[in-house]
Formats: sequence, C-alpha cells, structure tokens
Amino acid sequence: MGRHSIELARMGFSVTGVDLNPDYLEAARDCARAEGLFINFIQQDVLHLDLNTAFDLIINMYISFGYFDTQEENLRFLKNLYGCLAGGGRLLVETLGKEHTARGFKESEWYEENGAFVLARYAVTEDWSRLQNRWIVIDGENRHDYTFTQRLYSAAEIRMLFQEAGFSDIKVYGNLRGDPYDHRAENLVVVGAK
Ligand SMILES: C[S@@+](CC[C@H](N)C(=O)[O-])C[C@H]1O[C@@H](n2cnc3c(N)ncnc32)[C@H](O)[C@@H]1O
Repeated sequence: MGRHSIELARMGFSVTGVDLNPDYLEAARDCARAEGLFINFIQQDVLHLDLNTAFDLIINMYISFGYFDTQEENLRFLKNLYGCLAGGGRLLVETLGKEHTARGFKESEWYEENGAFVLARYAVTEDWSRLQNRWIVIDGENRHDYTFTQRLYSAAEIRMLFQEAGFSDIKVYGNLRGDPYDHRAENLVVVGAK
C-alpha cells in the first residue's frame, strides 16, 4: 500500500496520497512511518475532491480510473484532477486500454497471492465499453466473492476525455517506459498538461 507515494517520498518529493479506502491508507501510513517518511495521506473520493493545493504532478496508476457507471462521472474525476494541478503541471493515468485488453483477452484465470488463491472471471459488456470482473478469493477456510466493472477506453476515447477535461499536450504511451501505444502496448498510459 502506498508504493508509489513511498517511492516518490524516498526520492525527496513532497507527496500527498489520496484514496477512498481507509484501511489502505492506514496500511500506507504504517509503511511510510516505518521508513521515517512523511506523506500526507488523505481519505477522499476523487469525485468530490477538495484539496487546497496546486500539484506539479498527479499520478493515477495501476487501474485506478474508470470505475464509475457514467461517462459524466469519469469526466468529472478528470476535471477534479485538472483543478488540482498548478499551471504547467501534468496528470499521468495508467489504466487498461481497450486495444491491448482485446488482444490478450482471457475469460478466466487463477493465481496465488499472499497464500490465497484468486479465481478471476472476466466478461466484456456494453459493446466493449466495460469489463466485468468477478474475483473469488479462497484464503484458507474463507471465501470472498467480489464483482465490479470498469470502463474500457480506447486511446482515442481517453484522449478526447482528457481534452474535454481541459488538458493540453496530451500524449499516449503503451507502457511506463514511454513506448508507443501500438500493437505491442502493455497498458494505456496517458499524460496531459494544464
Ligand atoms: C487497483 S488499486 C491501485 C492502487 C495503487 N495506485 C497501486 O498502484 O497499488 C485502485 C485504487 O483506487 C482507489 N479508488 C478507486 N476509485 C477511487 C475514487 N473515486 N477516489 C479515490 N480513490 C479511488 C481504490 O480504493 C484503490 O485503492
């Protein structure tokens, strides 16, 4: 928890970390404290973001965008982040792109994580607009069942959404190394400036 915030704080940046989930924030605070790092962790929904700071950089990574049911809410999410940037500041979003998801699509998979087994089933809905995820987590005698959906954006669609939110100088990449978003793309990385 807090892995990006902690890495940036280690490098000497002044960092604010925002998440909805109080348990994740508490775990991230503990990790930061253990290293003697100060990070301003705040519990807020980005949809109702109210921070009185202008940031030079905002990062939204590892599929933390597109969970809302409507396009209006996803747009408001981006507009709120735009509002928190200083002039010339940049937003980076790293998420699932429609093109590379279609290329490597699996209907189901299983994997082991921290000793628990995760059985995942995926379904494409609304004409490739959304991805439905069902995760069954078997941890010893306990079983948890989670279902959630997320919006799948093509590079062209998310570029338009960034434009509508006010961003300029929008760049799309196929990974965090800055390679092109082409047939080899591993994920969808979008950077926009204020
Ligand atoms: C897939 S996790 C990625 C977490 C982290 N960025 C990482 O790389 O490990 C997505 C995170 O986004 C948070 N999240 C989703 N929607 C949010 C919202 N509207 N406002 C704040 N946090 C949100 C979730 O609580 C979750 O911690």
